[in-house]
Amino acid sequence: MSPSHGDQPERALPYPDDQRAAVYRVIAERRDVRQGFLPDPVPDDVLARLLAAAHQAPSVGFSQPWDFIVITDRAQRERVAALARRNRDQYAAGLPAARARAFGALKVESILDTPVNLAVTCDPTRGGRHTLGRHSQPETAGFSSVLAISNLWLAARAEGLGVGWVSFFGPRDLAAELGLPAHLEVVAYLCLGYVREFGSEPELAATGWARRRPVSWAVHAGEFGRRGLPGSGPVRLLDEVVAAIGPLDDEAMAAARERQDRMTKPRGSLGVLEDVSVRLAGLAGQCPPPLPEPVAVAVFAGDHGVHAQGVSPWPQEVTAQMVANFLAGGAVVNAFAAQAGAEVVVVDAGVAADLEPASGLLPRKVARGTADFTRGPAMTREQAVTALTAGIEVARDLVAAGNRCLVTGDMGIANTTSSAALICAFTGSSPVVVTGPGAGADAAGQARKVEAVRQGLALHRPDPADPVGVLAALGGFEHAALAGFILAGAALRVPVILDGVIAGAAALAAAAIAPDAVAACLAGHRSTEPGHAATLGYLKLRPLIDLDLRLGEGTGALLALPLVQSAARALRDVATFDSAGVSDKKA
Ligand SMILES: Cc1cc2nc3c(=O)[nH]c(=O)nc-3n(C[C@H](O)[C@H](O)[C@H](O)COP(=O)(O)O)c2cc1C
Repeated sequence: MSPSHGDQPERALPYPDDQRAAVYRVIAERRDVRQGFLPDPVPDDVLARLLAAAHQAPSVGFSQPWDFIVITDRAQRERVAALARRNRDQYAAGLPAARARAFGALKVESILDTPVNLAVTCDPTRGGRHTLGRHSQPETAGFSSVLAISNLWLAARAEGLGVGWVSFFGPRDLAAELGLPAHLEVVAYLCLGYVREFGSEPELAATGWARRRPVSWAVHAGEFGRRGLPGSGPVRLLDEVVAAIGPLDDEAMAAARERQDRMTKPRGSLGVLEDVSVRLAGLAGQCPPPLPEPVAVAVFAGDHGVHAQGVSPWPQEVTAQMVANFLAGGAVVNAFAAQAGAEVVVVDAGVAADLEPASGLLPRKVARGTADFTRGPAMTREQAVTALTAGIEVARDLVAAGNRCLVTGDMGIANTTSSAALICAFTGSSPVVVTGPGAGADAAGQARKVEAVRQGLALHRPDPADPVGVLAALGGFEHAALAGFILAGAALRVPVILDGVIAGAAALAAAAIAPDAVAACLAGHRSTEPGHAATLGYLKLRPLIDLDLRLGEGTGALLALPLVQSAARALRDVATFDSAGVSDKKA
């Protein structure tokens, strides 16, 4: 075949159409297989073909660092399976509740269900010190072994053989169990066997554990962040997300209302929770809506130049110290998240200190704190867009990782001052009405906050019709990132439970960017900070709880999480008068 593309010259293709299609098909239909293996043995000649395919993989400096250990002995496989089980139990013990439940139903290894196991190793020393390419990137040795695995995986698919990759081992434990020479690393442990059928999508996607990210999220034109597939031009993530935000689905909402009225309870007796369930249905576009779990709370942290105006009794270092506390699991947000079964993710949106890499920390620092908004803009417009984009990406990644509910969290010494300024800018409220004591400012401190907000408003004359400009003038990096987080939740039609005044200020920005974004938001609670009530009133959001909280971090929203989940659960589980044979009230 010789296709021509526009004014491109006709090009003879090296393989006929059907063969080319088969290559793409095998790539698309390759699966990691964990269940449904047949007991049939794998003939030696088939296995030899697979290993020969693996052995044709590219390798750094042509070093061919792989070896393949073919394991069929039952006793040996049982010992390896025991290692995997121990690791599995440890992993399960560290999961938040909803994840742990889902994980319990997942199969993660088929060591004993398959007739052949393969350990694939890497010798990072093979070929000596001048191995071309590895001299500068030692990790390319391991990459090369992975490419061999990929070849084998694809060839196995073509042969009708399922492959499952098991990494539930400490690599040293597995190497010791296999009696490997000390210079070899285990790269993979694979389980191979014939299967009746291959799933049409990855098992982890079919079970809702995680979703496939669209390819357009992964392709950048020339520089990271300039997203766009070849031929479609660069798309600004913010524009793309805003374009995807729409109103709630009327049909699903009507179905939810109608179902609430038929449920075995007096009509309207679940009060506000009925509205919550209707909104969840409208957001999901289906009735009943999916349960809002698993859940992730993203704590966005940033520092504020306005701290210099004496607006907080706390030193600025506390932001970074609390980030460390969140990561160590020692803060109230961790306790409430553990109770509610949510995962805590901490995002460095703009902490003034350098933070060490840590599990659970997403390094998305736009700058080391904002500038003092009483003297000039807190950030540039470009920085505001960068922070918005960071928030969008965090939300997208958490949803792709399988979360079905997002919770906002925040940390930033002085961020109630910035929040008050944003609330004034977006709602037209007066600084003295919406500026509160925050994390414990005394009367004099509160007066300084009001003055700082007044100065900021006078200096920047923010225009609520230019929300990015308002964020740049008066916001914090965590506010801008939270606004992006809310927008992305709305675009992906995942509920976003808002915490207190900082999330509220960010939601005002999100609403100014895309008014329909508010439909995805549920107000977790009402903070005692006065600006919060003004914000909720402006956004027409009713807080689910009102417990005089003023901590932030996501704590109030996490307390509301079981209410939101119960609202969805009721709509899903409660019988109707007709289904349960219960007599309805006389009309
Ligand atoms: C490096 C690597 C390690 C993996 N480890 C495991 C594992 O320990 N247990 C498991 O169930 N799946 C494991 N997998 C399989 C992935 O979960 C699977 O590839 C992914 O869900 C995508 O599904 P698909 O391969 O069917 O497209 C691993 C995959 C890779 C590439």
